[in-house]
Amino acid sequence: MAPWLNLIAFAAVAQAQSGGNAMLRFGCSQTVIDRIDPLVDPGKVPSPHVHQVVGGDAFNVSMPMGDISKVAKCTSCSYDEDLSNYWTANLYFRARNGSYKRVPQMVNDAIGSANGGVTVYYTAPGPKTVTAFKPGFRMFAGDAKRRTSTNLGKNMQSCFRCYSGPNFKGNVYSPCFDPKLDTEGFPTTPCLGGIRSSVIFPLCWDGKTLDSPNHIDHVAHPVSGPTSFSVVNGKCPTTHPVKIPQVHLEIVWDTTKFNKKEDWPADGSQPFVLSSGDPTGYGQHGDYVFGWKDDTLQKAMDNACFGATCKSLTTQSFSAANKCTVKTVVKENNDGWLNSLPGMDMDMPM
Ligand SMILES: *[C@@H]1O[C@H](CO)[C@@H](O)[C@H](O)[C@H]1NC(C)=O
Ligand SMILES: *[C@@H]1O[C@H](CO)[C@@H](O)[C@H](O)[C@H]1NC(C)=O
Repeated sequence: MAPWLNLIAFAAVAQAQSGGNAMLRFGCSQTVIDRIDPLVDPGKVPSPHVHQVVGGDAFNVSMPMGDISKVAKCTSCSYDEDLSNYWTANLYFRARNGSYKRVPQMVNDAIGSANGGVTVYYTAPGPKTVTAFKPGFRMFAGDAKRRTSTNLGKNMQSCFRCYSGPNFKGNVYSPCFDPKLDTEGFPTTPCLGGIRSSVIFPLCWDGKTLDSPNHIDHVAHPVSGPTSFSVVNGKCPTTHPVKIPQVHLEIVWDTTKFNKKEDWPADGSQPFVLSSGDPTGYGQHGDYVFGWKDDTLQKAMDNACFGATCKSLTTQSFSAANKCTVKTVVKENNDGWLNSLPGMDMDMPM
């Protein structure tokens, strides 16, 4: 059994449910790495920091509020119907000599031959329990400026898993669920199998607003507070009464080339930094622009679809998905050794 199926079994037990959960889990290959941000900084070229982006080819400097599934012509996700975009900050290694190198991504456990990218989850507690997003819907999770823990413990919404060896060793239990296995800040010791990032989005929506000025206020956590990955039974507050699918993103950073302790800071601290200049990891965040075709996401939730195949959806091969890319708008060096992070003036911004 693939380890992630164990995770899901665990999650289902955690919810004391006898079945009927919907949980899509599928890979989306890299669409582009670029310094634009159509959600937080629409129209701004370049935006403040570099992002890694997956999903449809409608991703651009700004994106219309309408139906993105009608703008995009292809998707890098294995579900054909998902022309959404998902993006996060990139990870960089800062060597002892002060030079930076972008950390490559690798494909996640039990995904297939995707090109790096993101693993996307949509979870619902059962058929007809959630309302799928509407065309134009978008949202943001996390806080790019955060530099300290939220102290949410097993309800943390952003975390890192330190894989202890090759082949995702240490991929046990749900992500962000065990504060011993998962940390809100970067792991402090070398991770021999890479580092997995997780970003979890809220479960409740005001039912009216497709977006809000900070891209957060139109969504909310259940009255009991933020809930862990796949624990989606919480009651929504009266201000945000509409339960939406839980969106969860996973990214695996291949840090294995950066594990030489002689290149780490002399004081033994960890060397990784987000493209936003965050050396702590607490500022990890994710962006989402909904773009599923018609009511396909609603049907997948109501059919209790599970994993990367679903009877009401079409699965394309990764050889097709990997061809869906967009051209970089901001042409800058993202791959060599760099004196500073792209967009960051200071050598070591906080
Ligand atoms: C992105 O936007 C620019 C300017 O608005 C436009 O010229 C370009 O065609 C768009 N690219 C794609 C791939 O849609
Ligand atoms: C900094 O260190 C890295 C890792 O050892 C090395 O590859 C790189 O060339 C060095 N950069 C400079 C400017 O010396």
